[in-house]
Amino acid sequence: MKRVFFLFIAALGLASGCLAPPAPRDAPLTRLEEQGWRIFSREPCFSACHATSVAATPPGSLSGFVPDLRTTPRHTQDWYLAYFVNPRAVLPYSPMPSFGYLSRDEMKALAVFLQRLNRDVPAPKARPVAPEEIPRTARDFVSYRAGRNIFNTYCTGCHGESGSGGGEVGHLLSPEPRDFTDSVWMSKQTESYLFSVITDGKANTAMPGFKDILRPQERALVLNYIQYFADPVAKERMELAFAIE
Ligand code: HEC
Repeated sequence: MKRVFFLFIAALGLASGCLAPPAPRDAPLTRLEEQGWRIFSREPCFSACHATSVAATPPGSLSGFVPDLRTTPRHTQDWYLAYFVNPRAVLPYSPMPSFGYLSRDEMKALAVFLQRLNRDVPAPKARPVAPEEIPRTARDFVSYRAGRNIFNTYCTGCHGESGSGGGEVGHLLSPEPRDFTDSVWMSKQTESYLFSVITDGKANTAMPGFKDILRPQERALVLNYIQYFADPVAKERMELAFAIE
């Protein structure tokens, strides 16, 4: 029965000019994975776009218009939820359309299926960073402006422009993003820790690593910028410089 269903999907895919994605069959899919695969095959962009890319992208490639879903970084359920609802709040240059019209249960099944596809990718693990490995940034307006640009591009969707966690998709996450204006919490964190989270992400949360997206210098600049959230007086001064500029 399953085989007939698979052939049917493949025939449909061929008829519409693309191949339906083959479901991984090394071990039986769980019920939820199977359900996710069905939604994946049914939704036009998932199946058409990503199936072509599976054929066209060299194995192991993370870049390209549509990534090979077997090699994309691993993410948590809540990351997928946020990404389906508002792709560009999570990845600003993502060409993916929103799948926010799916029900929460459907999104969950889809995420479980996608996690099955890339389950061989090593889980992100923050690596301790020695302080001297962090590129130096001046505490000046030029660095502030550069860090602000990076933050407003890559981080505000979750962390919010004011750094307190209220980004467009922040409420979909559990735990929700950290409040950087909490100066007590911020003062207890070492730069090495914060830099390692920005680089490799934070395990078991939606916080992604940026080592493939931002250069070390850019990660240092955005770290420098988020430290201003906990220092409103210094931030105000920099914002004034902005207004004058
Ligand atoms: C997909 C949503 C998302 C994006 C995009 C995102 N973050 Fe996060 N971030 C989170 C979540 C969720 C946490 C974890 C909060 C917790 O553990 O309580 C977090 C935590 C952090 C932390 C603190 C680590 C800790 O222990 O809480 C830092 C620093 C951080 N993010 C920086 C950034 C920077 C800089 C960017 C942009 C370059 C960014 N984040 C983009 C969701 C996101």
